Amino acid sequence: MLILRTIFPSTTNYFFYTMIRLDSKHTSCGICESEIAALAPAAQNANALLHSGEGAGNDFLGWVNLPSSITPEELNAIGATASRLATKAEVIIVIGIGGSYLGAKAVLDAMSSSFHFLQKERKHPYILFAGNNLSETYTAELLEATKEYSIAAIVISKSGTTTEPAVAFRLIKAEIEARYGKQEAKERIASVTDAARGALKTLSTAEGYDTFVIPDNVGGRFSVLTPVGLLPLAAAGINIAELVRGAKDMEAATAEGVPFEQNIAAQYAAVRNVLYQKGYKIEILASYEPRLQYIAEWWKQLYGESEGKEHKGIFPASVTLTADLHSMGQYIQEGERTLFETVISVAQPEGKVIIEADGDNLDGLNFLAGKRLDEVNKMAELGVVLAHVDGGVPNIRIELPAINEYYIGALLYFFEKACGISGYILGVNPFNQPGVEAYKKNMFALLDKPGYEEASAAIKARLK
Ligand code: PA5
Repeated sequence: MLILRTIFPSTTNYFFYTMIRLDSKHTSCGICESEIAALAPAAQNANALLHSGEGAGNDFLGWVNLPSSITPEELNAIGATASRLATKAEVIIVIGIGGSYLGAKAVLDAMSSSFHFLQKERKHPYILFAGNNLSETYTAELLEATKEYSIAAIVISKSGTTTEPAVAFRLIKAEIEARYGKQEAKERIASVTDAARGALKTLSTAEGYDTFVIPDNVGGRFSVLTPVGLLPLAAAGINIAELVRGAKDMEAATAEGVPFEQNIAAQYAAVRNVLYQKGYKIEILASYEPRLQYIAEWWKQLYGESEGKEHKGIFPASVTLTADLHSMGQYIQEGERTLFETVISVAQPEGKVIIEADGDNLDGLNFLAGKRLDEVNKMAELGVVLAHVDGGVPNIRIELPAINEYYIGALLYFFEKACGISGYILGVNPFNQPGVEAYKKNMFALLDKPGYEEASAAIKARLK
């Protein structure tokens, strides 16, 4: 068994316990310490490139020092607009897709009760998301469901030209203007976009919206700690200063010059690349907390878009357990042996639920009497890790002491840093996404967008 362990940020308040368990029976599918050590220089070198800006995609490295460079004034400006929107509206509709959506959704879900929609007294507005799909049903439902509520909107698009959010914004802008008039609409709409370019920038300037900038050198999927994530989160009442503080501590803990033995981002990146080189092509991010489901969705975008290119890259998948043990569990245990699993384990649950003894014990569960439900969850987790390792699925374990803004901020930055390092080890540019354009070209051609006449004729001929 091999254990990598790093204490963050202090020995009494540990953050990550990264563990790669290997059973000696399965050495053929496992990795050994010397294999990780062999990739350590590449990981350290990749980390140095992220800091020196000499690697591929170096015009998109603004995220590396982002947490330590956010000023209190920037946070205050975000907070001021967020408070204004929250005061005016019971529902804030956040419009964006991909990196302009998933970070805010991930943190919001992680920080919210799973049943927040049942709360009778709300301190903060409901946050709903739009522009992340083209479903007429979803959009019609959204417009219908918000009819009885006062509304405001935050529209987010770095390019300012992405079709899905642009279409949604056109509809929601019209609804806000129809309800409140053009003047008041300006007070109820804020935008986040490029400093100078794009249709959304032009529109925001023309309408006079409060507009926040996505720095040029921060790509969408690395933008959760810019106003892209921070504005909607502040409007939802999330403590964004704590989120940034956690990220900032993780920035320091994974900085250039931190030795490999202490740099958990470099370790994670190295380990996943060792596994990839040995044929483990799929990484499953698993968690036993339903609130973390969208952290996994954000992580999938981060790693999928960053690494999946040039016909290379680990395929990022996710499961929420124990639910998915009853759907995906069979495959993970006994399907193709190309999987490894990274478990985000949360040490401290919120709330307390104790399983009571039952006089009749008809369900046979009295052996659990007096235990907290979390103890059962933890034993399920341990049992699953051992079963998967025995079944030939290498496991990496990331332990959070609790789900709060500080640790979530640290987790986000950890994954970003490891992603940059991992992409460089893999030999790709982790900061572009050329493949995302292919569907857009076809869609525009099929919809007869001006400028696509030739592509339009070609695609229609192909479909005849
Ligand atoms: O990571 C990325 O760059 C993408 O996923 C974008 O975030 C996504 O395509 C949305 O782009 P935009 O913010 O320009 O609308």
